[in-house]
Amino acid sequence: MSDALLELRDLRRSVRLPSGEDLHILRGVDLSVEAGDHVAIVGRSGSGKTTLLNLLGLIDRQSGGELLFDGRDVSRLGERRRARLRGASIGFVFQQFNLLDGRTALENVMMPLMYGTAGQFWRRERLAREMLDRVGLADRADQLPSRLSGGEQQRVAVARALVRRPRLILADEPTGALDVTTGEAVMALLDEIARDSAAALVTITHDLQVAALSRRSFLLDDGVLHDIGDAGARDALAATGGIRAGREAVR
Ligand SMILES: Nc1ncnc2c1ncn2[C@@H]1O[C@H](COP(=O)(O)OP(=O)(O)OP(=O)(O)O)[C@@H](O)[C@H]1O
Ligand SMILES: [Mg+2]
Repeated sequence: MSDALLELRDLRRSVRLPSGEDLHILRGVDLSVEAGDHVAIVGRSGSGKTTLLNLLGLIDRQSGGELLFDGRDVSRLGERRRARLRGASIGFVFQQFNLLDGRTALENVMMPLMYGTAGQFWRRERLAREMLDRVGLADRADQLPSRLSGGEQQRVAVARALVRRPRLILADEPTGALDVTTGEAVMALLDEIARDSAAALVTITHDLQVAALSRRSFLLDDGVLHDIGDAGARDALAATGGIRAGREAVR
């Protein structure tokens, strides 16, 4: 037993290729994430970061090992219960924002509340306005995403991810489509709101500045996760050959 919100034990994920061969993407990942923790996972392109995030987000199922959410083995749950747990407890932030373009910022943030508790449903407009205010966009509530800057769109996406007060926030390259300054501001905001609500935050990133904001960093390399503490991200990444000369990012 453990008190961790997320507990991964020897987690594996393989996919069958058209050739009939198995590709072993995750080869035994161990990780424990507590409420209020902020974990960054770095790794070169193709190292399995998104694959891992999709397991943590209950989008895909592992091929082996254990994934415990709040002490519960979620691989034993059926799709409907996994979907309900995902909606209620997990918030996602993506690189490309994934906002609905025909809907205003406010409507985008209200969307998850349509599927929330009865209380969330009835108070959806007020809750969504409060979240937009929290990310500094109260005055842009009625704008369509296409009229907002990239940084503003990502702040709407952050508001949408957090409006149901998830216990776990998963961010896949949240700053990947933003310039450095805007990305840092969005990341600082995400980190701050997550901390205020005692949610656990797992950020996947190529960007070492982004990783530096987390409490703990890990390197995903060859399907295995290595703890690199808070200082060694740069060296650890360089060692995998994934670092690009002259930039604080790897691809
Ligand atoms: N369903 C699948 N079928 C076949 N191969 C897959 C599948 N899913 C992932 N892969 C392969 O597994 C590897 C890891 O993919 P993944 O998307 O997790 O990488 P990543 O670390 O997120 O990369 P990036 O930084 O470019 O986003 C890649 O080589 C990818 O092509
Ligand atoms: Mg990816």
